[in-house]
Amino acid sequence: MEHLAIIMDGNGRWAENRGLKRSEGHKEGMNALLRVIHRVIERKIPYLSVYAFSRENWKRPRSEVDFLFALFSKTIDDKLKELMDLGVRVVFSGSRERITRNLLEKMDRLSSETQLNSTLTLQVMLDYSSEEEIERAVKNAIENGRIPPTYQDILSFRDNPFIPLPDMIVRSSGEKRLSGFMLLEAGYTELGFYDILFPDWNAEMIDKIISDFSRRRRRFGGLS
Ligand code: FPP
Repeated sequence: MEHLAIIMDGNGRWAENRGLKRSEGHKEGMNALLRVIHRVIERKIPYLSVYAFSRENWKRPRSEVDFLFALFSKTIDDKLKELMDLGVRVVFSGSRERITRNLLEKMDRLSSETQLNSTLTLQVMLDYSSEEEIERAVKNAIENGRIPPTYQDILSFRDNPFIPLPDMIVRSSGEKRLSGFMLLEAGYTELGFYDILFPDWNAEMIDKIISDFSRRRRRFGGLS
């Protein structure tokens, strides 16, 4: 598998099940993501995308949104060294319009400081919506003279066009939908839905996903 994408769901339920505040679930989700990154590297998957915040997540209470953005910012400060040591290159996908200048500067610094790392490319989808990614890509394609743009043109003007299309999109916590995640890229992507809440994900989950993927027969519409 070259590119795994994860919809990290269930942080809130994980916390509520334990009588904790939802923010505790997000903190544990962050720890789970680090376990996932380590295993993805050990299993030699070169691209990992994660859905950190959707455009629709702005509808949550202000206190939860503020907590999440503070967590993203603190994570960049605290984990830069670990990511460098692991050889992780971090890139972002999503709208930049609604994110504070302070965080944007940190995100840009993280991307530029890690840009020569080549063990794993981690694509963080932050304030992401497929609808907006498609609109940005179509606009860019047209501005670059692709009129009308073909599907391949649109793909080549998406946020991070050097990243291959996802081989598999997985979602934690049992919900069976994509919630606007990577719709431009997911036409022939394998899907996997797992009941375990994201804060409980560990190395074995990644092993299970890789093993499930290896049993899929990918024919891309043809005959095997
Ligand atoms: C969905 O769980 C999770 C989120 C909206 C936030 C995901 C963020 C993290 C796991 C932290 C990762 C951090 C970085 C820097 C990438 P939910 O709150 O929708 O859970 P629920 O469905 O149980 O309420």
